[in-house]
Amino acid sequence: MRFSKTFTAVALAFGVTSAAQAADLKIGMVLPMSGPFAPYGEQILNGARLYLEQNQQKLGDRTVELIVKDDTGVAPAVSRRAAQELVNRDKVDILAGFGLTPSAFSVGPLATQAKVPMIVMNAATSSVTEKSPYIVRTSMALPQITAPIASWAAKNDIKKVYTLVADYGPGHDAEKQFVETFTEAGGEIVGQVRTPVGNPDFAPFLQRIKDSNPDAVFLFVPAGEQGVAFLKGYQERGLAAEGIKLISTGDLTDEDVLDAMGDAVGVMTSFHYAEAHDSELNKQYVQSYYKAYPGKRPNFMSVAGYDGMQLIDAVLKKNGGDTSGDAFIEAAKGLSWESPRGQVAIDPETRDIVQDIYIREVKEVDGKLQNVEFDRLPEFKDPVKAKN
Ligand code: PHB
Repeated sequence: MRFSKTFTAVALAFGVTSAAQAADLKIGMVLPMSGPFAPYGEQILNGARLYLEQNQQKLGDRTVELIVKDDTGVAPAVSRRAAQELVNRDKVDILAGFGLTPSAFSVGPLATQAKVPMIVMNAATSSVTEKSPYIVRTSMALPQITAPIASWAAKNDIKKVYTLVADYGPGHDAEKQFVETFTEAGGEIVGQVRTPVGNPDFAPFLQRIKDSNPDAVFLFVPAGEQGVAFLKGYQERGLAAEGIKLISTGDLTDEDVLDAMGDAVGVMTSFHYAEAHDSELNKQYVQSYYKAYPGKRPNFMSVAGYDGMQLIDAVLKKNGGDTSGDAFIEAAKGLSWESPRGQVAIDPETRDIVQDIYIREVKEVDGKLQNVEFDRLPEFKDPVKAKN
C-alpha cells in the first residue's frame, strides 16, 4: 500500500514534469482544414511546421505544441467556438492561423477579452488588425497589395478598367483602393461588379465585361479555385482574344493553383511573395519546402505561416519568453526580420506588416509558370492605415 502510494506520487510528479517539458508553449491554430478553403489551412500549417522543424520544435527556448482546429472556411461562429475551446479548455498561450476575414473578425473580441496574442496568417481585410489590440498580422492587407497594380496600370496605357471583386471584406477593400488609386492617376472605371464569396458562376459577369470593352479587368477573388474558374471563362468567352488585359492582386496567380490555370502567361499582378523571388533565403526556403512537402509548391500562405512562427520566436527571444498579451504585443511592435519574401517589419502603430510589394508578370521559366517580379515598392504600408 505504502509502496503503491509512493509509486503513484512519483509517477504523477514525473508525468507533470515531462508534460511541461514536452508542451511548454501551446499555440492554438484556427484554420480551414476542410471545405473549399482547405488548401489555406494546409499551406499555412506547412509553413508553420517547416519553421518548427528547422528550429527543433522550439520558439524562444520553449518547446511548442500546435493544436489545430478546423473552422471549415467562411463560418465565423465555428471559428469563434474553436478559439473559445482553445483558450478555455486547452489553455493555449497564443492563437494563430485565420484563413479568411470573417474568421479573424469573429475571434478578435475573444483575444481582447482573454488578453491572448492572436497572430493572423492570412485574413487580409485592412481592418482585421483593428479588431483587437492583441492582433499582429504576418500576411498582407488588401489595399497594400492592390494600390501598386492600380498605379502600374495607369502608367502602362490602361485607361478604362472594369472591376470584379468577391462581395465581402477583402473584395470591398480591393475595389475601393483600386478605384481610388487608378482614378487619381487619371484612369476611368467603366463598370463594377461584386460576386458571391462561394462558387460564383462568372459567365454572366464575363459577358457584361466584354460588352463594355475595357482596356483591362481588375480582379480580386480569394485565392484558389475561383481564380482558376475566372481565368478559364476569361479565355473561353474571348476576353483575352479581344485584348482585354487581366490585372489582379497576386492571390489570383498563387503558385498553389498556377499549374491548374492553363494559359496564365501575361497576367499582371502586385503582391508580396513569389516562389520565384530572387534571394538566397528564398532559394533555401523553396528547396526545404519541396523536400518537406513533395509535389506542393510554396506560396504566400505558407510563408505567412512560416513568418508567424518566426515572429513568435523573435518575440520570445526579445522578452524572455513572456506570452501574456501586453508583453507579447509590446515586443512584437517594430520587430523586423528577413522573410523568404524579403525584409519585413511589424508597424509599431498598427501591428500590421510592412513589406516590399512587387509588380509581377506570369511567365514560363524552365518549363514552369512563375510570377516573375520586375518592379518593387519598398517598405510599403497598408495605404488605408498610413493615411489615418
Ligand atoms: C480573406 O478572407 O481575408 C482572404 C482570403 C483569401 C485571400 C485574401 C484574403 O486570397
